Amino acid sequence: MSKEYPVPPAFAAAEQIKPDTYAGLYRESIDDPEKFWAEAARRLEWIKPPTQVKDVSFDPADLHIRWYADGVLNPTVSCLDRHLETRGDKTALLFEGDDPAIARAITYRELHAQVCKFANALRQLGVGKGDRIAIYMPMIPEACVAMLACARIGAIHSVVFGGFSPDALAGRIADSKCKLVITADEGVRANRKIPLKANVDEALTRPGTESIETVVVVRRTGGAVAMLPLRDRWWDALVESQPAECEPEPMNAEDPLFILYTSGSTGKPKGVLHTIGGYMVWVSYTHEATFDLREDDVYWCTADVGWVTGHSYIVYGPLANGATSLVFEGVPNWPDASRLWQVCDKHQVTILYTAPTAIRALMREGDGPVRKTSRKSLRLLGSVGEPINPEAWEWYFNVVGEGRCPIVDTWWQTETGGTLMCPLPGSTVLKPGCAMKPFFGIRPAILDVDGQPIDGEGSGNLVITDSWPGQMRTVYGDHQRFIDTYFTMYPGVYTTGDGAGRDADGDWKITGRVDDVINVSGHRIGTAEIESAMMADVRVAEAAVVGCPHEIKGATIYAFVTPKEGVVPTDALRKELAAGIRERIGAFAAPEYLQWAPALPKTRSAKTMRRILRKIAETGSNEVDLATLGDTSTLADPSVVKRLYDERVRY
Ligand code: WT7
Repeated sequence: MSKEYPVPPAFAAAEQIKPDTYAGLYRESIDDPEKFWAEAARRLEWIKPPTQVKDVSFDPADLHIRWYADGVLNPTVSCLDRHLETRGDKTALLFEGDDPAIARAITYRELHAQVCKFANALRQLGVGKGDRIAIYMPMIPEACVAMLACARIGAIHSVVFGGFSPDALAGRIADSKCKLVITADEGVRANRKIPLKANVDEALTRPGTESIETVVVVRRTGGAVAMLPLRDRWWDALVESQPAECEPEPMNAEDPLFILYTSGSTGKPKGVLHTIGGYMVWVSYTHEATFDLREDDVYWCTADVGWVTGHSYIVYGPLANGATSLVFEGVPNWPDASRLWQVCDKHQVTILYTAPTAIRALMREGDGPVRKTSRKSLRLLGSVGEPINPEAWEWYFNVVGEGRCPIVDTWWQTETGGTLMCPLPGSTVLKPGCAMKPFFGIRPAILDVDGQPIDGEGSGNLVITDSWPGQMRTVYGDHQRFIDTYFTMYPGVYTTGDGAGRDADGDWKITGRVDDVINVSGHRIGTAEIESAMMADVRVAEAAVVGCPHEIKGATIYAFVTPKEGVVPTDALRKELAAGIRERIGAFAAPEYLQWAPALPKTRSAKTMRRILRKIAETGSNEVDLATLGDTSTLADPSVVKRLYDERVRY
């Protein structure tokens, strides 16, 4: 049973959502979703308000998800234009550079103008409704401007995290046949430069990227980059003479807003597709309610726009709500471990939303770097991306928030668009590591392996039994894969891939992935993807990758590799294989541990027993009785397990 924390008194005194309010609204949302979500749609600015609300079937034979299907809108009008009158001079984006000496505020009026200018430039370059645009940028305001400019003219953006390699970028460009890439000369993180433009150049030499006509380059560092005549254009030159007004493209609510690639348990990354109307309702509503948003808040989500958290809770949600959203270019531990708290003081941040991995890393530096800052402006803390362990939760609550700020532990996924479960602040007690309650309209359930529901207290596979407006609509270019991935294991419900438990009070706790997906420092990566990148090396006969626990990253990557006959397994080869992963995917996917495996444990039908590998990888720091590795009776050659166990990497 988890320890309970009441709503902190300082917070409870404020006018926030009460337990009864939550219960009442939740009931309404479940009893009459049509009415509830028709009402919620009013939070957006529509060109033609929808008369239809929900049109959904989770039946694999007739799978479709549509919300507000006859509505017409442009999402940037809700994010920008409608604020001009009342919030024109309010800061929309507050930029804090990697270098602590760099900061800049951009008002709603300025952001509107910048978006319009860049949207006009894109139109002039021949970009129009439905075109796919890749965005490969550092965390600078132009990244947000680029996303919004695409949305302004109805183009579909596909943001690729700047930490991905040229190969990974090329694969994503090829999959959705992007017409244009927006990038920067270089990115800067922890005072180190990242050669973004050079990476784009390299990506565009790969087959499949021929759809790219233009590369737009923002000048961030002024570092020397090669500019290919006709193909490459400087951002500043393009926007210079553009008018600061741009007619928003009228879009259907179910037109695509963006594609965002994410890893699953099989195959290459999937292009998760979100459409405009439902997504915007979802992110705007969840952002306001989850963070108990007030007009004068300074809200800071430390994510990168390369991940869904950045899309929903740096750009679309906060801007739809007219909030001030802080955009941070740097990292939490540079110049030192006090950076996050110093930024909080400097900009008087009231709401901080960050990831458990950052909290754990900073916790290791002790209380000193925190205590030397004031943090008095903070009134609410958020956590996202992976399960937060109770020790990190308590440190965040007691040391960072001084017991004054509720923590909203928000569980969601790229696929869900926005938060599906969290303790709405003020509405419930808090339990460290627990996502507590479903958001309005969310019907979670726990199923056992046979698909039987587990009612009351218990744990198992987390599914969602009905749709919500922010749900992904399809896998770009592969609707069958959408159905196969999420709606086939348990027909009629959405399978999350996460495990969850419900306690005797009915409160929820997410336990983490139950599939072959590893969450490393909140970066989601499929084991199959790493394995196939490993096996692309001619010296590798076979590779199996599993996750193992890591004090700071939450999980880390452990690889078992069988070299080809005649290949000598050396430390040099180990390093080369890791370098290969960095090249094919990105640095964060490189295995932390690599064990040479003369053979992998296989069933008689030649299936790798990953369960056993996971167990071996987990025992890196302790001795276990081999019997606890689980049932090995189906193994073709049980002696393999003992050998792998004896030779495991100790950490
Ligand atoms: C996976 C989704 C949430 C947006 C950013 C990551 C894990 C996420 C929590 C949380 C426990 C969490 C899940 C989920 N996860 N938030 N609060 N508690 N687990 O999006 O890359 O699509 O990853 O992150 O395992 O399935 P993503």
